[in-house]
Amino acid sequence: MEHNIGTYNDLDPDTEARVESLLAQMTLPEKIGQLVQIGPFAPFDFEDYQAKNMDELIRSGRVSSFLNITIPHLINHCQRIAVEESRLGIPIIVGSDVIHGYRTIFPIPLAEACTWNPALLERASRVAAEEASAVGVDWIFAPMVDVARDPRWGRIAEGAGEDPFLGMAMARARVRGFQAADLSSGRRIVACPKHYVGYGAAEGGRDYNTTDFSERTLRDVYLPPFKAAFDAGAGTVMSAFNEISGVPATANPLILTTILRDEWDWPGVVLSDYESVRHLIPHGMAANLKEAARLSILAGLDMEMVSSAYPDHLAELVAAGDVPLAAVDEATRRVLRLKFRLGLFENPYTDESLADALILRPDFRALALEVAQESMVLLKNEGNILPLSPQTRLAVIGPLADNRLDMFGCWSLQTHPEDVETVLEGLAAYLPADAWTHVPGCPIRDTAPTDIAAAVAAAEEADVVLLVVGESADMSGEAHSRTHLGLPGRQQELADALAATGKPIVCVIMSGRPLVIPRLAGQAQALLAAWHAGIRAGRAVADILFGAANPSGKLTASWPRAEGQIPVYYAHKNTGQPAADADMKAFAAVFKSVYLDEPNSPLFPFGFGLSYTQFDYADLRIAQPTLKLGDTLVVSATVTNSGDRAGAEIVQLYVRDRVGSVTRPVKELKGFQKIHLQPGEQRIVRFEVRVADLGFTGRDMRYTVEPGDFHVWVGPDSTRGLAGAFSVS
Ligand code: BGC
Repeated sequence: MEHNIGTYNDLDPDTEARVESLLAQMTLPEKIGQLVQIGPFAPFDFEDYQAKNMDELIRSGRVSSFLNITIPHLINHCQRIAVEESRLGIPIIVGSDVIHGYRTIFPIPLAEACTWNPALLERASRVAAEEASAVGVDWIFAPMVDVARDPRWGRIAEGAGEDPFLGMAMARARVRGFQAADLSSGRRIVACPKHYVGYGAAEGGRDYNTTDFSERTLRDVYLPPFKAAFDAGAGTVMSAFNEISGVPATANPLILTTILRDEWDWPGVVLSDYESVRHLIPHGMAANLKEAARLSILAGLDMEMVSSAYPDHLAELVAAGDVPLAAVDEATRRVLRLKFRLGLFENPYTDESLADALILRPDFRALALEVAQESMVLLKNEGNILPLSPQTRLAVIGPLADNRLDMFGCWSLQTHPEDVETVLEGLAAYLPADAWTHVPGCPIRDTAPTDIAAAVAAAEEADVVLLVVGESADMSGEAHSRTHLGLPGRQQELADALAATGKPIVCVIMSGRPLVIPRLAGQAQALLAAWHAGIRAGRAVADILFGAANPSGKLTASWPRAEGQIPVYYAHKNTGQPAADADMKAFAAVFKSVYLDEPNSPLFPFGFGLSYTQFDYADLRIAQPTLKLGDTLVVSATVTNSGDRAGAEIVQLYVRDRVGSVTRPVKELKGFQKIHLQPGEQRIVRFEVRVADLGFTGRDMRYTVEPGDFHVWVGPDSTRGLAGAFSVS
């Protein structure tokens, strides 16, 4: 599939001329109208729309955009009024949360990231864009590129995990996929990376909570995925709900103006998050909505989502001289530029007859299966119990085995249960119906009476217990943070009872985040992290269990041993009293940075995931052990598939800058490649890393690469690998 890659970075003179000529004709209320996004209409229907008298708002040019309407005839209705009945005929733009697919629901983004396959995610994003565009959506509120190191935070499900480098790769891929040109609408899609910025750092993992981190951490950890999204051409960005060290992101001049405009020279549109302008009042930054409007527009926020500070107060603020007209003009200019560039003026309407044919196509469903298979991570496979033989008599137990709705994950506006394949349906592709029994055992999260006894009885009759447990979809996502990250409800009790039977347990664990499951991990012979894997979840699980697909996913966020370790992430600092090794506990050695009761290491580290085959690493080579600033580090290793199945391996490259004017993480991912090897096949995997990309934010808050010694590793995860060294002079 070859597409023109859309980018909104470069201004073209024709569009700029159109923008200026339109702007010159606009009244102040019309300009302010372009900065207003309204919606959604509960329950997203036409009656509600009419009750709110939207026609008149559109006709008078007081609204620019709608949020999460996905009914083509309603969108066309609004568009017709905007284009044909408003004074200047400026089209509206509809934005929507298309987070991991529109109707073809893919795995949650955290799972998708575990594919480590940007090209695949680019295709998945393209599918999402085609479907969304078919119903009249032109603006996709994704990708969510917040680095997240705290699995208590429910929104870890929506992003790529704990690492900025991986986050950059995923951000680029998704933006490219969304914004690829030549849609059937004749218009283009624009992506909206979010939430700018630092939202993942919410204290205690509680959603919307305070964040407080240094400007260096802002620049080195939280900003890079956004920068990557802009460099890939993203045309808009959404400001975050959180405050950053005392200044809410939505009215934060450092991030919205100094960095975005002055340093990066980015010409796109900044949209607030849902009522985040109004939130300046409870944050304690603005005394009232008028003040909130003033602070936001002056900080650099262009368009307000849902709350009404701009429409209610901007005009009087301009009249009083508290907001320069130039600030309103500049914001309006950015919005108009976007509408021109999307093709909305030329092709404002959506072909209502096409929508059905353009969604849930067979090739889209096939892609959803591919992504689901690649996103699953095999965490344990003792005695190679997996793959199962088709002769195995299974007791299929657990509340998620026959479940459709939770496969949609935390962010799907379109949830058609009939689109989903359950695990039981997946198994049916491999086993005759009488080869297994199914007992749910207990509900997902309530503590209602259970049928654990029936589950145990079924287990006694079987060769293998297939236990399908985890979280419901509504236990992650926005405003769904948790403090206890074990199996919810009575599921651990169920696992305990099954373990007591002595039957081997193959556990499929479905969740929206890394869970804390040391006990379960000990009880199960095999453990497959299947996440909330979208409409093809059940088939993908079965394909892996029976070996039709060889698991290749690797974790992109660490799975802690205990909640008290959080945040636990691989790219931590060393401290002045580091543990001798990551498995050391105190009492073994005093005055070390360790816990008394758990090692520092997570249960399953970043980058980790098993395969049904075996990959061996040998022969690390560093082309040039001494490099200069303008050089490129070239590192290679030989990877061999020494097992008896074809498989894919995600080969990872990490570095450590040993001494810096600012302390550096113990490891940083700087490269990865996913390679496919036949049994016995060998490949030299070669990485090239520009020395210029080995830097960090120095003491003076500027990006710097310092000379000195580095370690380098090439390996299968963040804890293992061939080690070497090089230096930069
Ligand atoms: C979320 C955003 C989302 C917006 C619009 C907010 O509550 O934080 O991620 O795009 O709602 O639905």
